[in-house]
Amino acid sequence: MDRVNDDVLDVLFRKARTHNAWLPRPVPDELLRELYEVVKWGPTSANSSPARFVFLRSSASKERLRPCLAAGNVEKTMAAPVTVIIAYDLKFYDKLPKLFPHNPAMRDIFANNPQLIEETAKRNSSLQGAYLILAARALGLDCGPMSGFDNARVDEEFFAAGKCEPCGQEFFPAGHVKSNFLCNMGYGDSSRLHPRSPRLDFNEACTLM
Ligand SMILES: Cc1cc2nc3c(=O)[nH]c(=O)nc-3n(C[C@H](O)[C@H](O)[C@H](O)COP(=O)(O)O)c2cc1C
Repeated sequence: MDRVNDDVLDVLFRKARTHNAWLPRPVPDELLRELYEVVKWGPTSANSSPARFVFLRSSASKERLRPCLAAGNVEKTMAAPVTVIIAYDLKFYDKLPKLFPHNPAMRDIFANNPQLIEETAKRNSSLQGAYLILAARALGLDCGPMSGFDNARVDEEFFAAGKCEPCGQEFFPAGHVKSNFLCNMGYGDSSRLHPRSPRLDFNEACTLM
């Protein structure tokens, strides 16, 4: 496989910024569906795919999130066309017969080990959240990830009721879906970016053994 060119690296990493201000340009639902169709191919342990994504687009759904946010995250979140709750399903193992069909024993390996469930759900939903950011950038969107919010309050507000509002059916069953982090999404206003902070040099962050 050939390496991607420099322009792609710029779009995904080097020139991509965390955005806090948004242009008044909507994000169509079709693009969010396309986004998921890319994100879903990112690798997870045992193909467990524990992340669940809630795309908040309506002002009613944003208002439900508002009281859960740290003060510094309120304004930009309310202004963003989309805010994604990146969550994880602690019963992800129930989907393993579909996702890991060549090893039917895998479901029970997880089901009987609460520590492994928690660890796997958190690690892999974080990875999937990172895939979400990179896939969004690849599709021309900008992102603003956030962990400044009250997870327990979000979990109560969005995952305890066990209903998916638009589809009107049981979607995220009560109690076993938990929030990991949030990510605002849209088309960022580059004129409002702060200067970029430095990163660690190779010798500070890496070692060759
Ligand atoms: C998981 C995560 C949580 C973050 N939480 C917040 C937050 O709560 N509020 C905020 O303003 N920025 C938050 N940030 C943004 C980071 O500060 C920002 O991504 C980092 O400084 C790099 O900025 P750059 O992408 O523009 O270089 C968060 C970023 C990540 C990845």
